[in-house]
Amino acid sequence: MTSIGNLLVLNGPNLNLLGTREPEIYGTATLADVERLCEETVASSGYTVEFQQSNHEGALIDAIHAAREAAAGIVINPGAYSHTSIALRDALAGVELPSVEVHMSNVHSREEFRHHSYLSAVADAVIVGAGADGYRLALLYLLRTLGSN
Ligand code: DQA
Repeated sequence: MTSIGNLLVLNGPNLNLLGTREPEIYGTATLADVERLCEETVASSGYTVEFQQSNHEGALIDAIHAAREAAAGIVINPGAYSHTSIALRDALAGVELPSVEVHMSNVHSREEFRHHSYLSAVADAVIVGAGADGYRLALLYLLRTLGSN
């Protein structure tokens, strides 16, 4: 099927360690498993997924800026930068694309410093605590928003 658009799925610091990192919190799915899940989710929609991960705040900001020209929507798991980065928040607000913030764990049942995310107020939707399925739910929301399902 010819692509009718691209959806950026962006992962922040330490998410490259998924599968081995604190599996009691984040589960055993690796980031490659999550990427496959994302691809399966959009497979029949005509959209493609661009899947990226970086441990660097500036690289994440650059990826969000690039999405302005290259993507129809953004799913972002900003990792710990959620709780610290006004710059990432400003980048997401600045590109004005439909966006969903995802956290695999239920950040609200964890340490207090995880309860606030700078990005939540500028994302269209926020999904927490659904594990790897959170990415799937986020993509389904974007597809619905874009009129594709
Ligand atoms: C996380 C939650 C963050 O608090 C944490 O720093 C992460 C992962 C999640 O997916 O549950 O790195 O974003």
